[in-house]
Amino acid sequence: LPPRPDLDLAALVRTIPDFPKPGIRFRDITTLIGDAEGFSESIRRLTDRAAVYRPDLIVAVEARGFLFGAAMATAMGLGLVPVRKAGKLPGLTIGVDYELEYGVDRLELHEGAVVAGHRVILIDDLLATGGTILAAAQLMRNVGAEVAAAMFVIDLPDLGGSARLRDAGLACETLIA
Ligand code: PRP
Ligand code: ADE
Repeated sequence: LPPRPDLDLAALVRTIPDFPKPGIRFRDITTLIGDAEGFSESIRRLTDRAAVYRPDLIVAVEARGFLFGAAMATAMGLGLVPVRKAGKLPGLTIGVDYELEYGVDRLELHEGAVVAGHRVILIDDLLATGGTILAAAQLMRNVGAEVAAAMFVIDLPDLGGSARLRDAGLACETLIA
């Protein structure tokens, strides 16, 4: 599809109140990716910004990060590496535990999928507290790879993630704030 620089991507994201818990305003990207021009333009804007960093790999975070990461990787002619929740990857993995609002969770990466010297773009759909992406960035550091930038379709700056990334010295690119 041709570029649509005028397209308002934010208008294609639906907000659902009280999902999955009372008080949460859930930003639903299914309406954005269900719109052909919205999805295409999202990927164009992400890849235009990602190309500036000259990455050699796209690393996408389960689950919604996969949707954007997969399209970016094919558009950029790069491989895609998934970072998954614990127990989902079949091969040998390395993992990192991270704090959630309540309790802890674990992200995993296949051993050898990202190695020292790789320069990666991390992609997820949304930045909230930053806990998830900082855990993924820790995995990259643990294998000696460089995070060129962390990219998101949506930033919720009130939840502090973009400030935490700034403090951590991680470059951050978002399409919608
Ligand atoms: C959501 C979202 C990000 C993360 C952002 O994923 O897709 O990965 O939360 O929150 P944070 O910045 O506070 O870490 P979720 O954990 O709901 O998993 P899912 O994509 O598998 O549904
Ligand atoms: N992940 C964390 N917070 C979220 C929100 N408000 N909407 C969608 N995904 C999220």
